[in-house]
Amino acid sequence: MGSWLGVSRRRSPVAALSALLALGLLAGCTGGSPQPPSSGTPSGTASGTRAPRSTPAQPPVVFTAQGDIGVGSKARKVLEAVAKIKPALNLALGDFSYQAGLEQQFCDMVTGVLGTGFPYELVTGNHESDGHDGNIATFAQCLPNRLPGLVGEYGTQWYADVPQENPLVRIVMVSPGIKFRDGKTLDYGRGSERWKWTADALDGAKERNIPWTVVGMHTPCFNLGAYSCQPGADFTNLLIEKKVDLVLTGHQHLYQRTHQLGHSPDCPALVPDEFSKQCLGGTGSTLNQGRGTVFAGVGIGGVGLHDVREEDPEAGYFAEWSGKNVKPTYGTLKVSVGEDALTAALVPAEGSFTDTFTITR
Ligand SMILES: [Fe+2]
Repeated sequence: MGSWLGVSRRRSPVAALSALLALGLLAGCTGGSPQPPSSGTPSGTASGTRAPRSTPAQPPVVFTAQGDIGVGSKARKVLEAVAKIKPALNLALGDFSYQAGLEQQFCDMVTGVLGTGFPYELVTGNHESDGHDGNIATFAQCLPNRLPGLVGEYGTQWYADVPQENPLVRIVMVSPGIKFRDGKTLDYGRGSERWKWTADALDGAKERNIPWTVVGMHTPCFNLGAYSCQPGADFTNLLIEKKVDLVLTGHQHLYQRTHQLGHSPDCPALVPDEFSKQCLGGTGSTLNQGRGTVFAGVGIGGVGLHDVREEDPEAGYFAEWSGKNVKPTYGTLKVSVGEDALTAALVPAEGSFTDTFTITR
């Protein structure tokens, strides 16, 4: 693993370097594996392809993810927990200010803790997709993309390979199941343009020999609460069919993490609101790649928590959870992606619940 200063010597513009150094000064703890991304243009074509695995081991990429944030003291605590981890980037999984007109305040809160050059990467939640409680376009202006080679529409539907050269992970962010300004959801139905875009992005990662795929979106399908499968059963099964390693969501203000859910002759498709033991791939915290997709809801970024419904019919799919009525905890998921393993850990900012799982390949 490279040291913070060591990796900061990579080629990058002065501004980004200064900001990253500022982040390093702000964050005093030595946890995590800092790996600032190299700089680049905010859009374009992802060009990363992996060298053969015989090359020397590469340091893991560490990123953080959480959603449902707000502008209160708990949101700030979570941001401070993120800063201590010193991730290469953060995935903000939607629902930012919860109030119109506070976009700049939200952005200032983020940059005040993480620095102005830090890749705090957005995908919209339902509170800002339709402009009702803030506007995703405004958030995207004050927290712009900082990942080189990002493809697609930042804030709504995009992917990026990290690191850009010799990537370890393709991160794909999508926005099914939430309404936009015209009052309509985007079409992620089977065979739609957005369905194909997502499938192509995931196939492209395999073609480029990128070891891991992570998908992020605001809404969960499976959940321990009152929500229906908002992204749609078909789209969720597409992610499982494509063997996405990890799906990150918010929306429900819980931490809720599944076992690996996978297809098999006895489980041709997962059905929302039902539990089938046949759809469990790997279970628990020590998992092998390819046996299914782990879905992790991380809606614990700062705004008030929801209750966990432990009697939910989908409960059998879940390995770990916390919420208002069960070990209430705010915090962030920390994901470390290496050539041979993906390890995710819930890092609490307030509360004491933790969860760690590892997928090896
Ligand atoms: Fe929310």
